[in-house]
Parts: sequence; structure tokens; C-alpha cells
Amino acid sequence: MLVEEPTYPGVLELASLRGQRVIGLPADADGLRVDALEMACAAHRPRLLYLVPTFNNPTGRSLSAERRAALLRVANRHGLTVLEDDTYGFLGFERRAPPPLKCEDLEERVIYILSFSKMLAPALRLGVLVAPAPLLPALAAAKQSADLVCSVLLQRALARYLRQGHLAPHLHRVRSLYRQRRDVMLEVLGRSLGGCGWSLPEGGVSLQLTLPPGVGEREFSREAMDAGVGITPGAAFYATPQQVASLRLSFGGEPAERIRQGVATLGQVLEDHLRRRSEMLSRPPGAASPLV
Ligand SMILES: Cc1ncc(COP(=O)(O)O)c(C=O)c1O
Repeated sequence: MLVEEPTYPGVLELASLRGQRVIGLPADADGLRVDALEMACAAHRPRLLYLVPTFNNPTGRSLSAERRAALLRVANRHGLTVLEDDTYGFLGFERRAPPPLKCEDLEERVIYILSFSKMLAPALRLGVLVAPAPLLPALAAAKQSADLVCSVLLQRALARYLRQGHLAPHLHRVRSLYRQRRDVMLEVLGRSLGGCGWSLPEGGVSLQLTLPPGVGEREFSREAMDAGVGITPGAAFYATPQQVASLRLSFGGEPAERIRQGVATLGQVLEDHLRRRSEMLSRPPGAASPLV
């Protein structure tokens, strides 16, 4: 299967447990590079592409409208099934997200899924699946064998909540809350982590931070954890090893004050890390003691 990179780690873990071969495709500020998709289809004849085209986890970026159309053309040409994960699609800050790929899926190539986790509550573990009719029996069997179906009680409660029209006003509040938290994080990043780069999320609950050259993401994440800040090292979001070290910073679940404190702590951790490194590099070679 193909995945855009970076992508949701849960899918990479699942594919690896199932022994599936995963090929990562590059993305930029406009989302998945469709030229790379076209080449991968020709070279590997994949059966499935998984992507989060709207407010991707971790970057918060989206696939542009032009690339959505181009992607569907490539999928149709190569007989590729597209698994569109729209878990963040209703969590846009500034403007409406482009319509899901599924809306333009005239040749029935797209399986559309979303989770209510980030809209309502992670503990629900309920979602939606829209798929071409011929695929439904196999998908229902796979779901049943995976978890013997989700709690019927919770499904009924959620169905009632949706029918009574509570979701739209709730989303209105949640979007505004996540936007405020995103704004706080961007503001403090500029102050505390000037030497880093970061994505500018237009929706979702996280962003991707790139570390200065020479700073390892695992080492930095460990140091951050020791200082009380939990972050996910970037490697978890890639199928292929990357040259540039990165991290995911999540703002969705934390109040503004904790975001301020957390990013300030990361700034301090990075400063200490860079100071130690430059002290080590400036030590004269003779200052090193022999190992044996
Ligand atoms: C893109 C994406 N899809 C799916 C999920 C999982 O949702 P759930 O909590 O319902 O398993 C997540 C959770 O982080 C996610 O980021």
C-alpha cells in the first residue's frame, strides 16, 4: 500500500502487524505530491493508497483542490483504491475545507472513513465508513473479526445526539477552541523555538516541528520528556527514514497556559541541548580521554 508522508502512525503500525509492504510518498504544503503517486503506481502497481487529505495528522495541512482532482484521475487510470481518512475534516479554522475526495468519486474508487474522536471524545471509538457497495460485505466482516463490532449502546447514544442536531453547535465551539490553542502555540513557538521550522495548520489538533540540523529527534524527545513535556518523534509518522528531524506538537488537548509553559520548556531544552553540543564540538581533540 501507499501512504502520504508524514501520516497517521496507527495505520503504519497496523500495516506492519499485517505484514503489508508500505511505500511512503512525499507531500508538501499542498499535500500529497501527485506526480510521485503517478510514478509509484507505474512502478509498484499498489492496491491501496491511505491518506488524510484534510488537516493531516501531524501537519494540519490539506491537499489542494487541483491535486484532489489529479489524484482521482491517477486512481482511476491505475485502478487504485483510495482510503480517505477525514477524521479532521470538520475541524477547519479559517475557511471551509475542500470537499472530500469521496464527493467527486464518480468511478467508486474511494473508501471514506472518519472518527468522532477529535470532534467529540477519544473514548467513543466510533466513526463512519462510506464505501462502494460491492466492498461493504468484506469490510463489515473485517470489522467484525477485528473487534466484534463497536458498543451498540454507544452507537445508539451517538445516533440520537446526531439526530437531535447537537453536533453542529458543538463543532462550532470546538473549532474556535482549537483555533485559539493553535494561535497560542504559533505565538510562543516564534518566541521560544526560533531556530526550528513548523507547519502552519489550517485545522486539526497538531503541527509538525522541524529541528535544527544536527539535533536528533529521539534524543531531543527524551530530554523533553525528562523536563515534563511529552512529544512524538517524527519517525513515527514515516514509512521511510528521513533526513530532517521532526516532532509532532499537539495543541488540541491542552489549555493555553499549558501550551505556553510546554513550548517555553521545549525552548529551554533545545537551548541546553545546543549549548552542550557546541561545548563538546569546541573541545580540543586532545581533551578526549582514551577508551582503553
Ligand atoms: C487520522 C486519524 N485517523 C484515525 C484516528 C483514530 O481514531 P480513533 O480514536 O477513533 O481510533 C486518529 C487518531 O489520532 C487519527 O489521527
